[in-house]
Amino acid sequence: MAQAEDADRWLREGVARHARGEIAAAETLYRKVLQVRPDDANAANLLGVAARQRGDLAAALEWGARAVALRPGVGAFLANHGAALAEAGRLEEAVGTLRAALAARPDDPVVLRNLGQALCAMGDPRAALAPLERAAALQPDAAEPMLALAHARREAGDGAGAAAAAEAALVRARGDAALAAQARFLLAALGRCAPPERAPSSYVRDLFDQYAPRFEAELTGRLGYRTPEALAALLRRAGVAAEGGLRVLDLGCGTGLSGAALAPFAARLEGLDLSPRMLAEARRRGLYAALHEADLLDWLPRHPRAFDLVAAADVLNYLGDLAPALAAIGAALVPGGVAAFSVEAGPAGAPYTLGEGMRYRHDPVHVAALARAAGFSELAREAAILRRERGAPVAGVLFVLRLGGGG
Ligand SMILES: C[S@@+](CC[C@H](N)C(=O)[O-])C[C@H]1O[C@@H](n2cnc3c(N)ncnc32)[C@H](O)[C@@H]1O
Repeated sequence: MAQAEDADRWLREGVARHARGEIAAAETLYRKVLQVRPDDANAANLLGVAARQRGDLAAALEWGARAVALRPGVGAFLANHGAALAEAGRLEEAVGTLRAALAARPDDPVVLRNLGQALCAMGDPRAALAPLERAAALQPDAAEPMLALAHARREAGDGAGAAAAAEAALVRARGDAALAAQARFLLAALGRCAPPERAPSSYVRDLFDQYAPRFEAELTGRLGYRTPEALAALLRRAGVAAEGGLRVLDLGCGTGLSGAALAPFAARLEGLDLSPRMLAEARRRGLYAALHEADLLDWLPRHPRAFDLVAAADVLNYLGDLAPALAAIGAALVPGGVAAFSVEAGPAGAPYTLGEGMRYRHDPVHVAALARAAGFSELAREAAILRRERGAPVAGVLFVLRLGGGG
């Protein structure tokens, strides 16, 4: 019979192996502890941490809830469970749990940052300011909390404060190219410097990873998102038959809302996205023959003439200069293949502008010129309301282009 001392030893050994990154071995040891001591809250908490590291959020939530139920009020357990709840998009529960964690550990910078970011995601950036300011002060060398503070200030309407925090984040990010690019991108969105040619891929990935569990409910509900259906309808009107005969690529497929609209055109439907968590949601739909985690600008040129139809619904607004994307889409299409995409409509004259919403807007006339230069002829173009933002309609333009056939 295993004894209590064995359980203590397994727990210590599990923690040591966990720290060395041997997650599976650590989990085995924690489970052995629970066989001897089913109410060991430490083992349950650590199993939750390990599950979250493996990306198994359902298990992380289960173990975290068990640890908190076994020992309510333990700051570390509440902190870990709150982080998992936030990651799962269960924001109200996350905020409650993280506030309880703070009661036990008021100066925990990670809890403060997670709480601030959950409040922002809930649409309450003002409430996020105090915890994020405290997190940034507690970690004077860390760029992440300062960058989170900059975003919260931007969302709360404090452009000057947001720029000051983004400048500070840029200084702190020295040596971390991805964080520095994110700080610069925010400064550009605030009008403090010229916009880069594209949104940093790390920014887009983090944004959509964080958004994934709530994306569909928010987009189709509060935000009234209809771009996939509108693009599919325009394809039909442009004479592209929805007879299930095409090799289709859903570029920036997200959770698969666009795939559902494209499926009637496809003999084979593939999806591509930067965000692993968006892709995980898309995989659950069972619509796609293949899903690729990649940046579209890297992936498309490596798959020449592979598709009959490439569609991008609400994706190219994360790119400023569309010339590389149009060339890459052209490379991945067979001659005569079709490209369909939406852009947010920007002012005439400027090829692209970066809005405070951190997405690019494009001058449709310039997009049409770039498309011609990339070898496309225009089959259809239509103004559309893409979605609402803060209650206001977002004006866009839908394009359907054919590769070749131009003058
Ligand atoms: C607003 S969502 C739209 C998702 C889907 N097309 C739809 O209509 O529901 C934009 C998606 O494009 C992806 N994305 C943006 N830029 C990308 C890039 N350069 N390469 C690959 N995916 C990208 C994002 O990760 C995100 O999932």
